[in-house]
Amino acid sequence: MKIAVVGTGYVGLVSGTCFAETGTIVTCVDVNEEKISQLNNGIIPIYEPGLEDMVKRNVEKQRLFFTTSLKEAMVGAEAIFIAVGTPPDEDGSADLKHVLAVASEIGRNLQGYTVVVNKSTVPVGTAQKVKNAIKQELEKRGVEVPFDIASNPEFLKEGNAIEDFLRPDRIVVGTESEEAQKLMSKLYKPFLLNGHPIVFMDLLSSELTKYAANAMLATKISFINDIANLCEIVGADVNLVRKGIGSDSRIGNKFIYAGAGYGGSCFPKDVKALIKTAQEHNHTLEILQSVESVNERQKKVVYQRVKDFFNGNLQGKKIALWGLSFKPNTDDMREAPSLVIIENLLKDGATVSAYDPVAMHEAKRILGDAIQYAATPYEATKNADALILITEWSEFRIINFEELEKNMNQKLIFDGRNIYDPEEMRERGYVYYSIGRKP
Ligand code: UGA
Repeated sequence: MKIAVVGTGYVGLVSGTCFAETGTIVTCVDVNEEKISQLNNGIIPIYEPGLEDMVKRNVEKQRLFFTTSLKEAMVGAEAIFIAVGTPPDEDGSADLKHVLAVASEIGRNLQGYTVVVNKSTVPVGTAQKVKNAIKQELEKRGVEVPFDIASNPEFLKEGNAIEDFLRPDRIVVGTESEEAQKLMSKLYKPFLLNGHPIVFMDLLSSELTKYAANAMLATKISFINDIANLCEIVGADVNLVRKGIGSDSRIGNKFIYAGAGYGGSCFPKDVKALIKTAQEHNHTLEILQSVESVNERQKKVVYQRVKDFFNGNLQGKKIALWGLSFKPNTDDMREAPSLVIIENLLKDGATVSAYDPVAMHEAKRILGDAIQYAATPYEATKNADALILITEWSEFRIINFEELEKNMNQKLIFDGRNIYDPEEMRERGYVYYSIGRKP
């Protein structure tokens, strides 16, 4: 079986490579020539554990190809996956220009029956637009080439993308024909050996499923963050509350970890886009509006606490920051809580010295020389007045207290992810603040 995947971002590159891993011949397409030439040399443009080896292996086995020519990639392809970006417009709605440009190009080059699969996160109704764009081009050509549209949202998480793709909880596919269903079943069969289902539905429902899934997860996070803030006020411990509610299987114990707010390229964007979709249909998603505003507030909680500790005066204070990416195992800093905290600290006249295991180059690109970049976590703490932990990378889990105490001006830690034990901190003489737990 041969397929094409258009777009070599997170979703496209991971999907294409994982399909190749099961023996499918995959050609990945991207307009960015530099990216394609790097990929052909085994250099991958993103940090994703395990991906580089898998790309190399499949390129060597001649199951995975990279090109800038969609036309070339389409030759003999039974399915074409569209996995290009849908950046948010200024008003929060997803911009479809890349998706529709690819659809038109498919229409200009389509030769025989093909299933065109949308994998980008796109608003409800996009599959129909893709179909129309292809049809329009076929009409211009004066030909009738049969094709089907499918919608196949992706649920992988950055940092765990390969595992998520190879062993998905479920595959969701929106289709309009049995032929397309058969093809999608064949393609995904190797990934569902664990008995997890492929759920077929109509196009609109599958498009909405993607947004509803991310919105539900974001809701869980904002809910627990709201509860965490209440815990602090009444003197309860959110970790205990989490365990208490999470063991009820109807609630579940995942995605209810309180912290400094959710970030990344998906939750913030998708929550906004879903609110916008509802508004376009004169409907208000009240819960999601609150999810968003709770998260905006939560991203500032750690900063606010640091400021309160120093009685509102951060002028000349040096703050060490551990972690910059929006979560561990990625160099992605899009919508990262660290950026909100840094911006506010700098605005108040503090200096920031930061360390992240992989996101330093990304931070330099975004922040330039606004902050100091340390070569190690402990270098960041030299002469620091406070330490903030903002991303729970494994390497921060065990602190070398001796080194920390040699460096820091005082024993003061703000933990934005609740990874340290308040009891131990107290015993060691630290002033320790976390989220939703007693200081
Ligand atoms: C998310 C979804 O989890 C994926 O299923 C989805 O496919 C993806 O978006 C997407 O639409 O492409 P991702 O953005 O990679 O994946 O990251 P998550 O692991 O979901 O974390 C998102 C944010 O929530 C992070 O900032 C994380 O720190 C935060 N989070 C997560 C919490 O604050 N508490 C939790 O309990 C879990």
